[in-house]
Amino acid sequence: MDFLHSELMQGLRRRCQEDHVACLAEESAALFCRLLRDTHCRRALEVGAGYGYSSLLIAESIAGQGGSLLCLERSAERLALAELYASQAGLDNISFLLGEAPAALESLTGPFDFIFLDAAMGQYPAMLELLWPRLLPGGMLAADNVDFRAEEEAAGTLSRRHKTLRRRLQSFSAQLAQLPDAEITHYSWGEGLLLVRRKEIME
Ligand SMILES: C[S@@+](CC[C@H](N)C(=O)[O-])C[C@H]1O[C@@H](n2cnc3c(N)ncnc32)[C@H](O)[C@@H]1O
Repeated sequence: MDFLHSELMQGLRRRCQEDHVACLAEESAALFCRLLRDTHCRRALEVGAGYGYSSLLIAESIAGQGGSLLCLERSAERLALAELYASQAGLDNISFLLGEAPAALESLTGPFDFIFLDAAMGQYPAMLELLWPRLLPGGMLAADNVDFRAEEEAAGTLSRRHKTLRRRLQSFSAQLAQLPDAEITHYSWGEGLLLVRRKEIME
């Protein structure tokens, strides 16, 4: 059985659902595994580890190429659980950092060849400013929940707080669209996933 469908990962997924801690949509999980096995990812970064469901998948997918993953999470409780699951999975290529983005990203040196953004969506624009320069040409950035509440927005029933979040997500998409070296693919499963490849631009 593959790692994605292992008992440990299925159990972790159930635990997230029981505790109402969001985790990666199954389609995105399968895409990450496929993508990361096919690339030569050496250094990955995740912003927003939650209980570590996506962290474990990323780390396991890149382990064979000698890749390692750094996970940033602001909740000590969640981080501790993610660490526990990582040790149960026998993964020694993950390190966990307790901190609050975007401030905590400033001290990270990079570069990274895969970045997964799955934290407070209202801060995606500020995070992108710090993350894009740390992404290697040829590398990829994935951002989850980019369509958050889009259906309610269309129906005109969004709360004020959610309207602000939607506006910030729209700024994030506009920021990406203006990058000359970004190649963007949108997936509509879950709450929407963006996969952005940083093109290698020839001088
Ligand atoms: C959707 S969950 C992450 C799920 C995880 N990536 C997965 O697929 O299993 C979002 C996580 O981001 C964390 N988070 C939100 N905003 C953050 C920030 N500004 N800095 C660090 N962590 C943040 C939350 O505490 C939460 O655990």
